[in-house]
Amino acid sequence: MKALVLSGGAGTRLRPITHTYAKQLVPVANKPVLFYGLEAIAEAGISEVGIVVGDTAPEIQRAVGDGSAFGLDITYIQQSAPLGLAHAVLIAREFLGDEDFVMYLGDNFIVGGIADLVDEFRGTRPDAQILLTKVADPSAFGVAELDISGKVVALEEKPAAPRSDLAVVGVFLFTPAVHDAVQGIEPSARGELEITDALQWLIDHGRDVRSTTISGYWKDTGNVIDMLEVNRAVLEGVEGRIEGSVDAASEIIGQVTIEAGAEIRGSRIVGPVVIGANTQIIGSYVGPSTSIAPDCRIESSEIEFSIVLAGATVQGVRRIESSLIGRDVEVTPATGVPAAHRLVLGDHSKVRISS
Ligand code: TTP
Repeated sequence: MKALVLSGGAGTRLRPITHTYAKQLVPVANKPVLFYGLEAIAEAGISEVGIVVGDTAPEIQRAVGDGSAFGLDITYIQQSAPLGLAHAVLIAREFLGDEDFVMYLGDNFIVGGIADLVDEFRGTRPDAQILLTKVADPSAFGVAELDISGKVVALEEKPAAPRSDLAVVGVFLFTPAVHDAVQGIEPSARGELEITDALQWLIDHGRDVRSTTISGYWKDTGNVIDMLEVNRAVLEGVEGRIEGSVDAASEIIGQVTIEAGAEIRGSRIVGPVVIGANTQIIGSYVGPSTSIAPDCRIESSEIEFSIVLAGATVQGVRRIESSLIGRDVEVTPATGVPAAHRLVLGDHSKVRISS
């Protein structure tokens, strides 16, 4: 069995971060979200992995390499444009050959891994197996309709009038039957080859499409709030570890990880929090559910429930909450008169100012 991991895409919902960065590499507890998926695949006993990449191919390749760090053998598959999840299957035909495979969306996060699911599929081998979970807002997802026996009878992508509250989770198991399906469908109104249409094609052609409804934790980290929420959930499970330096004037409360080379001076840190290597926290408060990447500087500031990417500086700012701060960003107060906000924001930035 092989795995196909989708790490291309446009990432419009995470702009402007995704103008310069692959969304699958945004860190959760200071580790790229994609790495959790690759670890889950390795744990399920799969070693041959194809990663579908788009414009951000060089960054993904730099981060993941040949996969040996994960115990995986990785083949990169270039997608010319984000033409849909089923398009990714189409272009991976040669890599996949005639083997069964698990398709994993590189920005999805599933607690508990996929080993049980893969074992079940290996045992029963329906033509396709999908994962479903109940959601409050099904029209934002692919939605499945089941008959009373639990068999999948219909699927629809982002329906205006959803026929159930069961959303399709970003892990799919396929036999080679899916290759006829992805060739048999046409692009949707948004111009993509939809995986829900490929699954519907299988159903319409009398194929066996089964589902497993999971109650565990799953999130598509495609937008900022979900990203922060996944970060919060993962941090809850991280045990504290202090390798950097903490001075006597600082207070560390709860589960806090401080990587080697990080320096905490005159600050109060309330976990769960992770602080990356060589980051300096000076005269500041860092509150729960916050990840600060390596090489940052947080000075005379307060920050909580946020993710800060590498190399960022936050100085003299009270107070930052629910924020995703990109690489090498500088957030500082405007000095002098008039007391105005002075902003240099990238395209598609979103700023909420407390005034
Ligand atoms: P999505 O989040 O559905 O799409 P997107 O990345 O284009 O994001 P947005 O809606 O914010 O514009 O994609 C799910 C995953 O699959 C994600 O990791 C990107 C990847 N993907 C591909 O690799 N190729 C594709 O053609 C598409 C649509 C997505």
